[in-house]
Amino acid sequence: MSLTVSPRGTYDIMPDQALAWQWMEINIREILVAYGYGEIRTPIFEHTELFLRGIGETTDIVEKEMYSFTDKGGRSLTLRPEGTAPVVRAYIQHKLHGQGGSTKLFYLGPMFRQERPQAGRFRQFHQFGVELIGEDSPVADAEVIVLAHELYRQLGLTGLEIYLNTVGCPVCRQEYKKALITSLKNSSDQLCPSCRLRLEKNPLRVLDCKEASCQALTAQAPSLHDFLCQDCRDHFQQVRKLLDQVQVKYKIQPKLVRGLDYYTRTVFEVINHDLGAQNAICGGGRYDGLVEECGGPSVPGVGFASGMERLFMTLEQKGLLPAFSRAPQVYIIPLSAELTTVSFEAAFILRQKGFKVELGYAPKSLKAQLKAANKSGAPLAVIIGEDEWQDRQVTIRQMYEGNQLRVDWADLAVQVAQLLPPAEQD
Ligand code: HAM
Repeated sequence: MSLTVSPRGTYDIMPDQALAWQWMEINIREILVAYGYGEIRTPIFEHTELFLRGIGETTDIVEKEMYSFTDKGGRSLTLRPEGTAPVVRAYIQHKLHGQGGSTKLFYLGPMFRQERPQAGRFRQFHQFGVELIGEDSPVADAEVIVLAHELYRQLGLTGLEIYLNTVGCPVCRQEYKKALITSLKNSSDQLCPSCRLRLEKNPLRVLDCKEASCQALTAQAPSLHDFLCQDCRDHFQQVRKLLDQVQVKYKIQPKLVRGLDYYTRTVFEVINHDLGAQNAICGGGRYDGLVEECGGPSVPGVGFASGMERLFMTLEQKGLLPAFSRAPQVYIIPLSAELTTVSFEAAFILRQKGFKVELGYAPKSLKAQLKAANKSGAPLAVIIGEDEWQDRQVTIRQMYEGNQLRVDWADLAVQVAQLLPPAEQD
């Protein structure tokens, strides 16, 4: 372990990158608010029990990936591995079901899973997500999928693929589970060790195993689609019809089951095929039993979450992140120790007028300070020297052109505004 390296699977967002993150976050917030979602900020940690119940005790997330700890009061707490269960907890806690109608919430922030790090997979990562709670109509499913699609489109992304499936309801799934176990039992020695256990505890999980031997076996297994009850079948047809109506393209993936147990009926993922192994930038679906499972009334829900690192990588890959500059507009250069109070005041005055200002702290030589000003990228330098200051004047230098102009101290802000390049003036 090295104290000077961040823990495995985590990373720092440095100032230049943070600007691109802010741009991405501002755009996401704007679009979600326009679709009627209100932001919710839940705690970073929750009672461990919430995730055991919500996500499912036999999922990989709960069995292997949670950062859980016991606090000094003896309570078991867990850094949130996802946002849906916490939002549902808050929905119940604040009795939002009592307000009538449906509730639309969105969130954005860090999540934690102890997975094996690789490109696009981190132990602390960020998601933004939406949850539409209180609506069982297939229109809600389609609306949420179209929202994901539109959001990416508005960020400039095209060429992403939507994978769509239904996992039925607990009733039809029960029959399917039996059929799946029967089909795989005789060849269970060909399953990977994890899937042998999964077959007993949570057979549907075998369907999304990435091991070739497991995939070969499940390719022969019966399809969940043949076991759907009429209501689940109609619901899925309706979701498809709505997506077709607005020409949002999707691909049916009969083996898409997703890694969380709360899903019922519709599930979907958005894929960027150019990202490599971790190519899902978004995953979601319907969770009609989750509110009740977490101790609330029987209320349906549907939503998705998007991995922001993967979204960032996708935008970067496709050259869609705007160029950002942290350069100041003005760099202030005091030429003697006595003049540092004046330069300090100049920075104060200009910042109060809204200019981005960088201040030379110690009076080094003019050459050294001009070099620093140049490096900062500021188009203007304000040079404060003894001679000019005797006449209560300062020099403004246009860094690109090399022109210099003496101006009265009282006119400093006005002159700076006039001398800035047009692109900097707003
Ligand atoms: P999830 O599929 O586990 O679903 O995660 C959603 C997205 O978060 C993934 O598609 C991926 O982009 C990103 N993600 C997940 N794990 C990592 C990781 N270790 N490193 C980087 N990115 C990651 C959920 O979390 C559900 N709560 C989604 C949902 C909301 N379903 C209904 N409502």
